[in-house]
Amino acid sequence: MKTAMVWGAGGGIGTAVTQQLISAGWQVAALGRGVEQWEGVATCAIEVQDTADDAAVRRAIREATYELDRVDLWFYGVGDIVASPTATLTVAQWNQMLAANLTGAFLTTQHSLPLLADKAHLMYVGAIHERLRLPGLGAYAAVKAGLEAFAEALRKEERGKKVTVFRPGAVATPFWDKVPLRLPKDAMSAELLASKVLAAYEGEQQGVVDFTH
Ligand SMILES: NC(=O)c1ccc[n+]([C@@H]2O[C@H](COP(=O)([O-])OP(=O)(O)OC[C@H]3O[C@@H](n4cnc5c(N)ncnc54)[C@H](OP(=O)(O)O)[C@@H]3O)[C@@H](O)[C@H]2O)c1
Repeated sequence: MKTAMVWGAGGGIGTAVTQQLISAGWQVAALGRGVEQWEGVATCAIEVQDTADDAAVRRAIREATYELDRVDLWFYGVGDIVASPTATLTVAQWNQMLAANLTGAFLTTQHSLPLLADKAHLMYVGAIHERLRLPGLGAYAAVKAGLEAFAEALRKEERGKKVTVFRPGAVATPFWDKVPLRLPKDAMSAELLASKVLAAYEGEQQGVVDFTH
C-alpha cells in the first residue's frame, strides 16, 4: 500500500488531496490546522498550528512515525496570503506569509527527509508569481518565487526523489476569503488540482507544473 504525508490537510486543497488519496486506497498522514475531520478516516491526523514552529514540526513527524514507516508521496498544501501594499504591510503580516509559505515548507521538508522512500515524490503548491507582481501582492509573489527556488535546489540535492511545484490558476477554496478579491468565475475546483497531484505521482511528472483548468 502506498503512503502519503499531507501538510495542510485541513485546507481547501489539502482536504481534496487527502480525500482523493484515501479513496484511491493510500495510507495518509494528515497534518496541519483543523485536521480533526480526518480522525478515524486517515491513517493518522496530527494537529500542527504552525509549520514554521520547529519543535511542533519535529513532534508531529515523530508522532507520524508510529503509524508510517516510509512516505512515497509528500505534499505541502499549507499557505497564507495577505494583500497589502508595501507602504502598509506590517512586519507581522510579512512574517505570517513567510512562515506559512516558505519557512514551513523548509522545516516540514527537512524533518520529513528521513521518512521518505528513496524514490519519494515531494510536491508543493506555488503560484504563477510572475503574474502576481501586482500592487498589494508583492510579498505573496516574493514568497512563492522563493518556494520555487527552494524546490529547484532541493531537486538537485535529493537525487532519485522527484520534486514538483504546482502553479495553479485560481482554485475555489477558503483562501479567497483572505483577500479583498472576487473568486474568478473560471476558478478550478480543489478536486481537479488533487487529481493532477495523483496524475503527477503516477506519471512521475516533476519540475514546475502550470495549469489553469
Ligand atoms: N486557492 C487558490 O486560488 C490558490 C492558487 C494558487 C496557489 N494556491 C496555494 O495553494 C496552497 C493551499 O491553498 P488553499 O487554497 O488550500 O488555501 P486554504 O484553504 O486557506 O488552506 C491553507 C491551509 O494552510 C493553513 N495555514 C496557514 N498558515 C499556516 C501555518 N503557519 N501553519 C500551519 N497551517 C497554516 C490554513 O489554516 P487557516 O485557514 O487557519 O489559515 C489552511 O488550513 C497555498 O500555498 C496557496 O498559496 C492557492
